[in-house]
This record gives sequence, structure tokens and C-alpha cells, in this order.
Amino acid sequence: MGARKIENAPTLFTFNDLVILPGRAEVEPGDVDLSTKVTLRHELKVPFVSSPMDTVTGADLAIALARCGGLGVLHRNCSVEEQVEMARRVKRAESFIIREVHTIAPDVTVREAIELMESRGIHGLPVVDEGERLVGIVTWRDVRYADGELRVRDVMTRDLICAEENISLEDAKKLMQENKVEKLPVVDENMKLRGLVTIKDLELKGRYPHASRDDEGRLLVAAAVSPFDLERAKILDRYVDILVTDVAHFHNSNVIRATKRMMREISAELIVGNIGTYQAAVDVINELEEVNGFRVGIGSGSICSTSVVTKVSAPTLFATASVSDALRDLKADVPIIADGGVKSSGDIALALALGASAAMMGNIFAGCRESPGKLIALEGRYFKEYYGMGSHRAREKRYSLDRYSRPSKEIEEGVEGWVPYRGTVEDVVRELAAGLKAAMGYAGASNVREMWKKASVAFVSPAGVMELRPHDLITERKIF
Ligand code: XMP
Repeated sequence: MGARKIENAPTLFTFNDLVILPGRAEVEPGDVDLSTKVTLRHELKVPFVSSPMDTVTGADLAIALARCGGLGVLHRNCSVEEQVEMARRVKRAESFIIREVHTIAPDVTVREAIELMESRGIHGLPVVDEGERLVGIVTWRDVRYADGELRVRDVMTRDLICAEENISLEDAKKLMQENKVEKLPVVDENMKLRGLVTIKDLELKGRYPHASRDDEGRLLVAAAVSPFDLERAKILDRYVDILVTDVAHFHNSNVIRATKRMMREISAELIVGNIGTYQAAVDVINELEEVNGFRVGIGSGSICSTSVVTKVSAPTLFATASVSDALRDLKADVPIIADGGVKSSGDIALALALGASAAMMGNIFAGCRESPGKLIALEGRYFKEYYGMGSHRAREKRYSLDRYSRPSKEIEEGVEGWVPYRGTVEDVVRELAAGLKAAMGYAGASNVREMWKKASVAFVSPAGVMELRPHDLITERKIF
């Protein structure tokens, strides 16, 4: 029995084992299209997703990554209120029509209006009466030199240029330009305020033409949840586009059952995981009604000690290939997110070559300016802190206990450390995208689907691995 198990044991390959073979190129790297599906319904312009970890994805990183065309998954190592606040910040960051509009009543004094504008950093407020009907708009210019005892109704502009609910971005822009206004209230047929369009938001849209957005032009955002925390999932469902289960071993009957329950109560798309094997994909597809995406890979994360502690592992590349085969056999066109162990654009290219639609990264994004981790200087270089969600540090916060250590599992499965500071998310995404386009160009693929079909891979011997990276020179720089 023992020997036969060994004879039948599959070979587990990881990022360092494989390379992509050059293929006949039909397009130049600059023309490669990196757009991809991250779920059945949501598309990204670049296949990069950030890990839900409290040293990686808070609101700032999610905003920056969505602006670059990727997707941030907000971590859950905090109270539900804090996680919701992060989601709201992303949604408020820029939108074509702002839905949560600060308003003011007509009988408020000018002095109070000034205080309100200053404390909120807003320079214009729609004025609404008791029935929430729009009666005017008051701007900084109207109140700045006015007598503080006057009422808002005495100084506000009553002659309003308004838009209807279904106005297009282009029409809104035209209307504002023609009438030389910077704010355009959106009202219904009874003059009730439904939203506000501002020049600033329209301009931001022009600045980030490739941003990942929802139907209303707001930035796309996802959030991590535990399948056992139904209340949190239901609350977050109102604010985010995608929910992502945050479970180290999703292929577990209790977890699948809890997820099934959760799916009935939410309307956001759901990415499930992590899984690592062919059989896990088959079981999950057969047991859950609709899976919108898979998060795959167990034990490859740079801060992960699961396979040291347990000797259990389904390395990300192996997991990607296995799940991809299963989905093809089942004729299920569900996007796969390769999660854990990605060190470079080359690793992302390999994951795509084996069937992934996107890569999830913790280590790389932890090093960005927008990540929540602390920045430290060490011997003249900058680093940011980064720790696993199953590490002692994260477990101290005690919110994510159910991922790596249900009460019966009294062990740590993650470590703490520092990663090199990499600059802004924009810089990092630009670099990753350029490297990935080059890889796809070599492979002869002009888009992600072609990468699945055309790219072939080959094994490298351990000695070869040494040759295939910078070698035979003295360098001060540690090559990560
Ligand atoms: P990288 O390699 O980008 O991987 O740092 C990030 C992914 O690692 C997973 N993760 C963990 N895995 N113990 C683990 O076994 C942990 O403490 C831990 N924290 C995060 C997670 O899938 C993440 O996206």
C-alpha cells in the first residue's frame, strides 16, 4: 500500500520548476491585450488582484489598484463596520454619479454652512427642503463673504441646471460645459435629489480610462468573508461587487454547506476558495449552484508555513493546472485566480499559461506605498511589514481565526517579516503589465485566451534554475 502510493504520486510543480517555451509571435508585446475575466460577469483590464490581508488590502490599495484596471479584495481582519467603511471609501473615491450626497437645509445659517463645508472639505452643497426636494445649490463662492447670520436660502442659487437619472457621462459633461457649472444635481420627476455629478469626478474618469468600474462608474471592489459569518456577508453585500471566501481549505463539507447557505442570501458575485485539486473543483462545481470564480493554491504563499507545519500543499501552479483541467472536463467556464507564491510577471505568465485568468498577490502589493503595513528603513533601504493571516501577529487581532485556526486547530500557519518597498501601485502594475506583455509576446499569445491555448511549458532541472536567473557576477542587490 505504501509503495504503491508513492508510485502513483503525482509530480507537484511550482513556479520555479517550469518555463514557457517561445512560440511563433503574431503580435508585438505592445499590442498584447491583458484584459481578463475575474468572475463570470466582471472584467479587469489587467489580471492582477490583491490578497485580502491586513498588510495588503485596505481602501487606499483597493482604490489605487482598481484605478489601474485590477481588483482589490478588502481584508476582514477587522470589525464588519471597519470593513464596510473601507468598501464605502472605495465606492466614494470616484463615480460618475455620487449617490451619497451631503446636503444642507435652507434655513441653516451661512456660518454653519461654512463650518460644514470646511469640516467635510466640500465646496458646494445641494439645498433640500424637508421633503428632500432640491430647492437650490450653495457654493463656497456664495457663502465666503456673506453675512454669517444670513440663511442659506438667502444666498443660494435657485436657478438650477439639473440632470435626469439616466443621463450619460458624455451628456453630463456637455451640459456642465455649456452652462459653466461644476456640480450637476441629479433629480427625479418630483425634484427629489437622487445624486450629484461633479467636474472633479468626470475628470478623474478621464485620468483613469482603464479603471475597473461598476455600472455607475464607481470603482470595482471585492471583500473577503468567512462562509460561517453570514451576517458580515449580508452587510458587505450591499457595498461591494464581489465577495471572496477566505478559507485555507474550501474542499470541506461544512464549508461548502455554509457557502451554499450564504449564496442564497447575497446578490454579489462570489469567488470561492482556496482549493488545490482536480477533485475539489469537481465537488465544488457539483455541489454549489453557481460558482463565479475560483481562488486556487494552498501552501505557496511567501508568508505561508502551512506546508511546513502540516506537510500539506497544493502549490499554486499545480492547483491552477489541476482546477483548469477539471473545469474544462466539466465544461465550466469559471475564471481561476492563481493565489500565492507569485514573485514576478513571469510567474503570472506561467499561471495564465496553465489556465488562470488572473493572479492574486500579497507579497508584491504589500510592498506598495498604498498598502496599510508600516514602512521601515533598514540599512539605507525601505521595507514594509508583511505577515500571514495565520501568523501570530494576525491571529492576535482574532478576526480571522476561522481561516487558519478553528478552535480545534491551535497552530500558526503563517510568518511575519518585511518586503522591499516597491513604490506606488501604479508603478508596480506598470512594471508587471510590461513584463507580462513581453512574456505573452514570446509565447505567441495576443490575449489571455490565446495564452491558455498557445503557450506551452517545459520543466527545468534544479541546475537549470540557477542558470535561468542572473548569475556569475557579484551584485549587491538581493534578487527577490
Ligand atoms: P504571496 O506569495 O503573494 O501569497 O505572499 C499571498 C497568499 O498567501 C495566502 N496566505 C496564507 N497562507 N498562511 C498560509 O498558509 C498564512 O498565514 C497566509 N496568509 C495569507 C493567501 O492565499 C494570500 O492570498
